[in-house]
Amino acid sequence: MAAPEQRLTLQSTVEIPHSRGTILRPRIGFGVYQSPPDICKKSCLEALRCGYRAIDTAQFYENEKEVGEAVRESGILRSEVFITTKLLLPEGSVEKTLERCWRSVREIGLGYVDLFLIHTPSSGPEGRREMWLALENLLEEGGTRAIGVSNYGVKHLEEMKSYATFPPVANQIECHVLCQQRPIVEYCRKNAIQVEAYCPLVRGTLMKNPTILGIAARHSTATPSQILIRWCLQHGFIPLPKSDNPQRIRENAGAYSFELDASDMKLLDSMDLGVDGALVPQNTDCP
Ligand SMILES: NC(=O)c1ccc[n+]([C@@H]2O[C@H](COP(=O)([O-])OP(=O)(O)OC[C@H]3O[C@@H](n4cnc5c(N)ncnc54)[C@H](OP(=O)(O)O)[C@@H]3O)[C@@H](O)[C@H]2O)c1
Repeated sequence: MAAPEQRLTLQSTVEIPHSRGTILRPRIGFGVYQSPPDICKKSCLEALRCGYRAIDTAQFYENEKEVGEAVRESGILRSEVFITTKLLLPEGSVEKTLERCWRSVREIGLGYVDLFLIHTPSSGPEGRREMWLALENLLEEGGTRAIGVSNYGVKHLEEMKSYATFPPVANQIECHVLCQQRPIVEYCRKNAIQVEAYCPLVRGTLMKNPTILGIAARHSTATPSQILIRWCLQHGFIPLPKSDNPQRIRENAGAYSFELDASDMKLLDSMDLGVDGALVPQNTDCP
């Protein structure tokens, strides 16, 4: 019998903890950061054709509308697709911030989103509180099925305990072989917060890395990008690979025909450079 991880498919799902009732979400999502609107729509359509069922956008990416259009044009049932977006800034009051969230929901045009995240903790304690209360209101009003955060450090997650009625279901952080975020990951595990891994492909910079190439060579059908995605999946992270290249979208969707063994995982785990391996300025310590 195949080991459980070998049976993973592109449409495998995982339960969202803490939500009212059970929400199932795909184990992998398609990222669209820096995907220009017209290209973004084509890329999302290609990703959906390949079998992706989750897309990660944000107000900041300015392509929420095109993500929604792609889902509608794909002909796939709304209920089978999982859409995440992110709130960038507080607007000065919970009411105004809530209205900003609803604007995103309308822009995407699918009736509701599945997961709404606070994009960054950098707005300070008051801003974070205001944004979280707005997201809780959005949840109660049916604009989103779940709420969470992004780029939050342990101290931001701890701070939320003083005002959150609903705990965050996910923390989307930079997480890949060079920046494994162990303290935050450990905290999230203990507190039943899912870790979404952004930059899972290390932005394409490790495709010629000898360690990655060596592991790919041992799995005859695997490519470096698939090794990086598979490492995330086997750690239980939700990777969000991005590509605007149809061939690479298909390639990145193919991390399911092999399994990394314990020695592969150990080698990949040993590549961690901590914060020195980060590509994005980290806000996890910001006040
Ligand atoms: N919450 C946050 O603050 C935050 C921050 C960053 C990212 N994110 C999310 O996470 C997603 C992924 O992160 P990311 O886009 O920064 O980085 P990434 O997914 O690690 O890498 C994307 C880059 O790798 C290239 N690439 C994709 N597939 C490849 C392949 N098979 N071989 C070689 N190169 C390949 C892409 O180029 P092509 O497009 O030309 O293929 C693109 O330049 C984002 O799109 C976004 O949804 C969130």
